[in-house]
Amino acid sequence: MHQKKIEGGMHVSKLLTGDLAAFESNPLDFLTYLSTQSDVASFRLGPFQNIQLISDPEMIKEILVTKQNNFVKSQDMTVLKSVVGNGLLTSEKDMHRSQRKRIQPAFKKNHISVYGEDMIQTTDDYIQQWKDNDQRAISEDMMNITLGIISKTMFGMPFQDGHKQIGKPMETVMQQAVKRMRAIIQLPLWIPVKNNKQLKQAVKSLDDVLFTIIANRRKDEQQNEDLLGILMDATDETGIHQMSDKQLRDELMTIFLAGHETTANALIWTFYLLTQNPEAERKLFDEIDSVIGSRKPSAEDYMNLPYTQHVFSESLRLYPPAYVIGRKADKNVEIDGHLFKKGNMILISPYVMHRKPEYFENPNSFIPERFERERQKELPDFVYFPFSGGPRVCIGNHFAMMEAVLVIATIARRFQLKLADDPKEVKPQPLITLRAKNVPLMRIEDRMKEK
Ligand code: HEM
Repeated sequence: MHQKKIEGGMHVSKLLTGDLAAFESNPLDFLTYLSTQSDVASFRLGPFQNIQLISDPEMIKEILVTKQNNFVKSQDMTVLKSVVGNGLLTSEKDMHRSQRKRIQPAFKKNHISVYGEDMIQTTDDYIQQWKDNDQRAISEDMMNITLGIISKTMFGMPFQDGHKQIGKPMETVMQQAVKRMRAIIQLPLWIPVKNNKQLKQAVKSLDDVLFTIIANRRKDEQQNEDLLGILMDATDETGIHQMSDKQLRDELMTIFLAGHETTANALIWTFYLLTQNPEAERKLFDEIDSVIGSRKPSAEDYMNLPYTQHVFSESLRLYPPAYVIGRKADKNVEIDGHLFKKGNMILISPYVMHRKPEYFENPNSFIPERFERERQKELPDFVYFPFSGGPRVCIGNHFAMMEAVLVIATIARRFQLKLADDPKEVKPQPLITLRAKNVPLMRIEDRMKEK
């Protein structure tokens, strides 16, 4: 691109875009590099967007927990708002507090165990079509499985319907949302450019599905134990008012968006990492074989699969789906001697923190054993936080852990996944979540065959 020099030697384009080019070309390396320069490192995306990357665990704790009242979510949320409305992920202050209180019971441990059986059943049904020596596109499979699980646990929708009605428009929404977040100037949704039209259409398709489900449920007399049933019964602090159809729609859309692709990506990374670490894979098979053997897994098995849990935790350490967490100062606030002025943007990166050599030995190696209870206790707060923390900690954290462990166990009990051909370098691709790029086809071997 042609660059015009101005006084002092700075290029006009650099003045306008700041560090955008470096950030866009490799956000993960760029953030990692910045964090080695300072615990509070400033950079600039576009002409006005100054951002500070915070890489000190104590300061992170203050921002997310102790002094969280001084912060709101970052600007990116305005993009998400056009899709999820005012759901849990995007709402602020009193609205967020009261919605969080209402929705929290749906994610209590006793409910999640009920969802556990659906998680296993959905996965088991899905892999019925798998045969020894098949070659599978595992990324697609994991997206399908987590979409099937969220559709089933949220409103009892079977996999086939969920895939057809929700999978495709959801993918369009994710793609368009990334494009909008990255654009320096975001076009309002009413301008009929191609991207906006596609996004609007996808949101409309999803709306049609969700509002129809809600309307049918309103007519349904029987009590439903799924997520929607719990959300529909939940009242506000007065104990009287239930959520409107619009609010229910926003919360359902939020849970879909927040809860399906995150877990899918983490599972894709996990299966890939297992192909690269045969010793860990062997230990995982041993645990699953001794706890579950040839019977079908059950939700209770979750507690008895610590190594499988560690495998997933380690995969979340290396490739945390939420690789950055954004905040904006809502008022002037001082943290550890640094003044953050109202309007200042802050970025916290679990990806960067999870690979800091001062906290993790061999930080780039896959070592599930580091999550064994005693060793984990040694870690300070907020060096490992794939689900964030404080009042806005992921509401689906236990759901996601149980889902992942049960999906891994249900698949690994039956199959071993091997790379079908030599991969190009499998790389992290930081979109809304941290995806895996260039994952090759995987050849599946039926493990039951040898027994
Ligand atoms: C491995 C999977 C997952 C990861 C890594 C993950 C990560 C996160 C993170 C980091 C946040 C906080 C963002 C912030 O502080 O700005 C968050 C929020 C949220 N997550 Fe998850 N998540 C996962 C799975 C799920 C699942 C399965 C669900 C629902 C079924 C879910 C629903 C939500 C919701 C509703 C919020 C907003 C909570 C609030 O602001 O009160 N997530 N997630």
